[in-house]
Amino acid sequence: MKKYMLNEFNELKNKENLTILAIESSCDETAVSVVRNGREVLSNVVASQIEIHRRFGGVVPEIASRNHLMAISNLYEQALKSAGVKAEELDAIAVTYGAGLVGALLVGINFAKGLSYALKKPLIAINHVHGHIASNYISHPDLKPPFLCLMVSGGHTALLKITDYNKFKLLGTTVDDAVGEAFDKVARVLGLPYPGGPEIDKLAKEGKNNIKFTVSNSLHATLNFSFSGIKTSVINYVHKFDQKKEDFCKADVARSFEEAVTDELVEKSIRAMRLTGMKKVVIAGGVGANSMLKSKMSKKCKEKGFEAYFPVLKYCTDNAAMIGSAAYYYIRSGIGLAPLDLTARPSIDL
Ligand code: KG4
Ligand code: ZN
Repeated sequence: MKKYMLNEFNELKNKENLTILAIESSCDETAVSVVRNGREVLSNVVASQIEIHRRFGGVVPEIASRNHLMAISNLYEQALKSAGVKAEELDAIAVTYGAGLVGALLVGINFAKGLSYALKKPLIAINHVHGHIASNYISHPDLKPPFLCLMVSGGHTALLKITDYNKFKLLGTTVDDAVGEAFDKVARVLGLPYPGGPEIDKLAKEGKNNIKFTVSNSLHATLNFSFSGIKTSVINYVHKFDQKKEDFCKADVARSFEEAVTDELVEKSIRAMRLTGMKKVVIAGGVGANSMLKSKMSKKCKEKGFEAYFPVLKYCTDNAAMIGSAAYYYIRSGIGLAPLDLTARPSIDL
């Protein structure tokens, strides 16, 4: 059977200018963006549900889906209006189809399918992780592969060798928790609000690195990561004080944890650079907003003659502009055309 909109999709491959409407709803941010030629963000609207989920200490999937549903039509209108683009002028509709929460993803996917069908524009299915990588293309107009990518989000922690826009080789990944997950759990045990990463980042600035929390040594020889051991050490440390009803310095815990985790991320990235011969490391994902990671990685890279790239803050965490950028490079590579029975994928290989 012929693929849905195959001819229209093929025509886009060589079209000079591409204007893409992108939708992201994989977790607790509903986002719509219009991006031109993979680098120029014409509009980027995000409705964050952080305040809604905060009182539950984390994302409640069902509540996330309902809120995506309530927000998405308005965001679509806003994204077109602030881009100054008419729906007929769009070349394609891009949407995150995984990884993420199934119910949340389905809201974005179904809305995108409706648009694709009504506007007769190809539907492009985007891997969320590829979107995070592309957040650097909109942040750094001159950045091009090849480079090494350190992917650090709430769902992933990985090192990838990227030799072209759509050529990814996985060098190492976490064997247990993602680093963002570890930040969020440590924050929770310290009684900090959700999402914990930015809270730890802030609190650590007031603390001392005086508690010995270490990242598991068992993966030392590899480029894989493990963060569940250090997370458990922090939880045990806090519980011991709680049981004795004694006080401890939360800022010192945050600082000591953050130091150990960022050392590990920097050390393995530098090692991966040496092993692959790459000269640039590109950080992607929400934990890329971490100030200690940014300063340590930049300093170490400078010492070694490497370059470190971080996405600008608003593109670190989930947004649709990064999905629109990734979609541009999918189309140029002739990949990503999706059928109208596209469905959500809660997990996808990197
Ligand atoms: O990429 P992202 O928005 O969503 C996923 O695709 O997972 O990442 C969210 C993660 C959360 O775990 C959050 O706590 C973490 O990124 N995060 C941070 C900081 N800002 C966000 N972690 C450490 N320091 C930060 N400043
Ligand atoms: Zn994300």
